[in-house]
Amino acid sequence: MAPIKLTWLGHACWKIETPNGTLLIDPFVTGNPAAPISADQLHPDYILVSHAHGDHLGDAVEIAKRTGAQVISNFEIANYFTGQGIQAHDLHIGGSKEFPFGRVKLTIAHHGSSFPDGKYGGNPSGFLLTIGKKKIYDSADTALFYDMKLIGEEGLDVAMIPIGDNYTMGPDDAVKAAKYLHPKFLVPMHYNTFDLIKQDPAAFAKRVVRTVPKTKVVVLKPGESLELK
Ligand code: NI
Ligand code: MN
Repeated sequence: MAPIKLTWLGHACWKIETPNGTLLIDPFVTGNPAAPISADQLHPDYILVSHAHGDHLGDAVEIAKRTGAQVISNFEIANYFTGQGIQAHDLHIGGSKEFPFGRVKLTIAHHGSSFPDGKYGGNPSGFLLTIGKKKIYDSADTALFYDMKLIGEEGLDVAMIPIGDNYTMGPDDAVKAAKYLHPKFLVPMHYNTFDLIKQDPAAFAKRVVRTVPKTKVVVLKPGESLELK
């Protein structure tokens, strides 16, 4: 199978290129000071939205309308999209479905999910993706939770987790998350977009190496990629 390419677009935004379609997760590009490209340069087939906060919903409506990409999100957020004539598939926590590119499962996340206008956005989620033989976990915005151990038992190839603190796990809890998840590759995200979530990813990487020697921390700059072969 062709390699799967994960490109960090800053904050919690990911482009995942698979043999059967391109996914965009949490497309906060416009107004994201760390975004290496503009929203009109993105041509996804699917858009996954973890929760309705503005820094995750981002440009999803505009991109979906322009490209015809299918949105995959929780029931409440999916309804928001279908209400605007956008094709959306609703899942909910613990549920999974096979798509042409692979399987998507919504995982728990401890966070909020209201829309920027205050409307109810259901429960926030993370994503467990099974693409070919590869397992990719995007925790999205969350606190540390002990059930990450269960997700780690899946045998993860890569996990993307926040380290920014203030709104999500900070580095101390993210080191514990690394232990519970023990993926082959761990990529920190949701940091250094704004001063409030400023962190040192190299220092975090050193701590993970000491705690979980088999996990390799990959520190990406916005626009850089990790390939899973
Ligand atoms: Ni959030
Ligand atoms: Mn966020």
